[in-house]
Amino acid sequence: MLLIQRQGGVLKIFKRIKENDFSEKYHVVFSRIFVVPVFLIAISGAYLTFDRFVIGDLQNSMSIKEEILSDNKYLKFDLISLDKVKKVIYPFSKSESDFYAIELNDRSVMVNQYNNRIYSQSFYPFSYFTKEWFYNLHTGKGNLFLSIILLVSSISILFFIFTGFKISIKSTLKSLNIKYLSSEKDSKYIILVGSEKGNTFEFAKFLSAQIQSFGERVIIKPLNSYKIYNQAETFIILTSTYGEGDPPSNANNFVPLFKKFSQHNKINYSIIGFGSLKYPKFCAFAVNVDSMIKPLDNFDEIVPLMKINRRSVLEFNKWIKMWNNSAITSVKFKPMEIET
Ligand SMILES: Cc1cc2nc3c(=O)[nH]c(=O)nc-3n(C[C@H](O)[C@H](O)[C@H](O)COP(=O)(O)O)c2cc1C
Repeated sequence: MLLIQRQGGVLKIFKRIKENDFSEKYHVVFSRIFVVPVFLIAISGAYLTFDRFVIGDLQNSMSIKEEILSDNKYLKFDLISLDKVKKVIYPFSKSESDFYAIELNDRSVMVNQYNNRIYSQSFYPFSYFTKEWFYNLHTGKGNLFLSIILLVSSISILFFIFTGFKISIKSTLKSLNIKYLSSEKDSKYIILVGSEKGNTFEFAKFLSAQIQSFGERVIIKPLNSYKIYNQAETFIILTSTYGEGDPPSNANNFVPLFKKFSQHNKINYSIIGFGSLKYPKFCAFAVNVDSMIKPLDNFDEIVPLMKINRRSVLEFNKWIKMWNNSAITSVKFKPMEIET
């Protein structure tokens, strides 16, 4: 589901991957390749657990019926082919009360060791066959090709754990490493950030540090924690876009929150969209937010919506220039240095 959502629909699953980072790129590449076998491993594993703790207990309490045969039926060993025999337990002693216990494909039988007469038989219940089917699917028993696929898929799960952990740590560190000078109660500048992997927070931190150097109170908040800010005068909204022009995960609730909380003050605002021109809906979420805010009377635009392709510092500095040229703004930003 996550794969489909992040790719922006089922059909987009087969599109070329546009990520450059190794972990991010191959997390998507391998999840596309292994989605089916990993799903089968998960389903069969879940069934086997269910069987072990629920169906197994149920069967134990009902106990499988063993039918003692009164008529003389004999097991013709020479007519039973080996592929129908799963297990043979030999009699422990020469006593006539010790039987062969033979497990066939559909039932188990107790057979007299001297004359091959079937003493008793018990047929397996339906759940036995489903369990066996899921067990073979889960372990690849009896099928070399399937077991190789399962082996490689299991290794891919370790890869997903490793790269997923790396992506998540990277994004958490980027969003956590924010120093607050002010509380949201007394901040004049509110920087609202929509980000999935934390890159947009880097730009927010850059702006926040400079606003603080002007002695102004500023706070950085994810778009999903939008509320009424009593002292707010300026909003700077920075947001990325994912999938079909969807918000990043920390902004997926912003639109209803924005409609619910109407600010008491007049707000000057500017929106910066972060996206990539490789996607057809370039910065679409930022565009949505812009068209939601623009018509409101108590919101005044400082700089028109700026769409930034692939975190271009050059384009970000263009926004800074426009901001600095605005008569409304008392805080002026230094341009961001371009990494070489
Ligand atoms: C799976 C995926 C889907 C994306 N979809 C879009 C999109 O529809 N439109 C767009 O402009 N950018 C899209 N991007 C690019 C990101 O928005 C861009 O890389 C942004 O800088 C990420 O910022 P963040 O790390 O703060 O979330 C997508 C990126 C990925 C990995």
